[in-house]
Amino acid sequence: MSRRLHLNLFIQSRGHHEASWRHAKASPLALTDPAYIEDLALKAEAGLLDSIFLADALALWDDVAHAPHNWLEPITTLATVARATRHIGLIATASTTYSEPFNLARQFASLDHISSGRVGWNIVTSWSVAAAGNFGDTAQVSHEERYARAEDFMEAVYGLWDSWSDDAVLDDRRGGLYADPAKIRPVNHVGPHYQVSGPLNMPRGPQGRPVLVQAGSSEVGRRFAARHAEAVFTAHMQKETAQAFYRDLKGLVVEQGRSPRHVLILPGLSPILADTEEEARRISDDLNELADVEVGLKRLSGRFGGVDFSHLALDKPLSVDDFPDPETVQAARSRAETIVTLVRNEKPTLRQLLAKLAGARGHFTFVGTPEQMVEMMEDWFRDRAADGFNLMPSVLPWMLDVFIAEVIPLLQRRGLFRTAYDGATLRHHFGLPRPTCSFG
Ligand SMILES: Cc1cc2nc3c(=O)[nH]c(=O)nc-3n(C[C@H](O)[C@H](O)[C@H](O)COP(=O)(O)O)c2cc1C
Repeated sequence: MSRRLHLNLFIQSRGHHEASWRHAKASPLALTDPAYIEDLALKAEAGLLDSIFLADALALWDDVAHAPHNWLEPITTLATVARATRHIGLIATASTTYSEPFNLARQFASLDHISSGRVGWNIVTSWSVAAAGNFGDTAQVSHEERYARAEDFMEAVYGLWDSWSDDAVLDDRRGGLYADPAKIRPVNHVGPHYQVSGPLNMPRGPQGRPVLVQAGSSEVGRRFAARHAEAVFTAHMQKETAQAFYRDLKGLVVEQGRSPRHVLILPGLSPILADTEEEARRISDDLNELADVEVGLKRLSGRFGGVDFSHLALDKPLSVDDFPDPETVQAARSRAETIVTLVRNEKPTLRQLLAKLAGARGHFTFVGTPEQMVEMMEDWFRDRAADGFNLMPSVLPWMLDVFIAEVIPLLQRRGLFRTAYDGATLRHHFGLPRPTCSFG
């Protein structure tokens, strides 16, 4: 079969534009109402998307006065969404920094059963000082240390998910044998950070293991992705940097002895769509008008581990010297690099930079017509900048509705997107093999 695009819906606040929550066309529902997420999931499923995704952080953001986030914890939320939907994949974020392998392996195996094989795990390491404070740490865990722990964590969760052979459950009521103990084995993982005896206290999930998703783009983050990820979220503001990332990561995947087809690269794409380019631009300008400079400055500061940029003039062109070297950043290093590259190439003023980042925090924002957007998507897909996209609608559900009504049919007409679900699991939608597990 020819190569097809994969589309994930990234649900965040009432849309990805920083000011979306105040927009007249944003959802009227409270962000604590599970119906908000369920409605979006049902729309995405009607549009035949591969999956939905919920991000997460382990501390309250400091911009709460002006910017709401997703408040509901992703794993529990997706358990309710699983019961409301039938086909769509469900990707939850969970951090390896502040949980134990046994907890997460168990929760994801549960969710895989609850959803009949539709769960994915966005593996993150936690970088905020505020998160450290919530778990008894006095300081942020360093970038290297976080990834080192995550490696050990992964070995332990693999052991747990594989601790039950696929055919361990007999459920033989007449013979009185529920499970074959010879097909359930201990894990006995002893690593530098985690010791886990195992086995897991439940049968293996329908997918064997959840689909593993990752979104770190730094040098260490890429190597981690090459070893573990089956889908990768990434942020690019230009096609060229997306292509370079795609080439590099697929190369690292091959070095690990894995098939490059089994690691999907999904850059963020935030659509602002209208019937004419002028109208789309007007919508974008209106949204930027609603954005708050103070929130933008706080977020920018967060990207660089708390550096204060408020002394910079709003309307003077920026230079790279106004920013710390991204290599020294302990937070999300790759996003710091994206921002510094943009400053080097385009020399925006601080006000212009904040407006660009307000759109989708350093992801690609597309402002134009559905036809133009399909051109762009096909261009990135054919030129190996993407295997699909992480859709980040600027305003929800408004821009998702437009995307599904106008863009999906155009993609289908070009043979770039499915016309029906032809499988039941997220692994199937993503074209990934199911890891089998059997032992005597
Ligand atoms: C689309 C996308 C979604 C992300 N979602 C989360 C998230 O929910 N929680 C989180 O802590 N980090 C999230 N991240 C951050 C990454 O997981 C990663 O920690 C960050 O990019 C830093 O890694 P790096 O230093 O290797 O780039 C996300 C990144 C991207 C691109």
